[in-house]
Amino acid sequence: MKEKTEEKIGIYPGSFDPITWGHLDIIERSSKIFDRLIVGVLTNRSKKPLFSATERVKMIQNVTSGLPNVQVCSFAGLLVDFAKEQNAKVIVRGLRAVTDFEYELQMAQTNHTMCPGLDTIFLTTDVRYAYLSSSVVREVAEFGGKIDAFVPPEIAPLVREKCRERS
Ligand code: PNS
Repeated sequence: MKEKTEEKIGIYPGSFDPITWGHLDIIERSSKIFDRLIVGVLTNRSKKPLFSATERVKMIQNVTSGLPNVQVCSFAGLLVDFAKEQNAKVIVRGLRAVTDFEYELQMAQTNHTMCPGLDTIFLTTDVRYAYLSSSVVREVAEFGGKIDAFVPPEIAPLVREKCRERS
């Protein structure tokens, strides 16, 4: 009898504070590689995030609602533990430029050393979003600049509102 093939589960971890077009592009592309893609939102950051983990999860769920094999969860602690809990064998990260590489390589090798069954794959960011980061979006929004080119239309008003509350 043919054995049931194991579901291929990928994890795309990050802070997503807030989710940008660059993140969404990586989610869409990697959702085609796996049976199930789990977007893991990190909760335990030392610096205070603009959005709570619950808010970030909801925002990502909203913009990925058309992708049925994408699931969004928050996690605290080590990524390798979260990956094990979720039975995922592959971590996905986006690479924008060579400057990202050193940090990403260190993270991938650390995670692989701690958990040899876990590999990291890198998707190159679409050139349209190569300059983009959540921190740039936060900075532009904090100073009242337009962020519509950087984040999906559902996200921009939430970022503006949060920055207004904070000022
Ligand atoms: O979007 P970010 O902030 O670049 O994502 C970084 C993230 C969340 C992938 C990374 O900080 C992480 O995995 N943190 C969890 C803690 C951990 O496992 N650290 C060891 C890996 S070096």
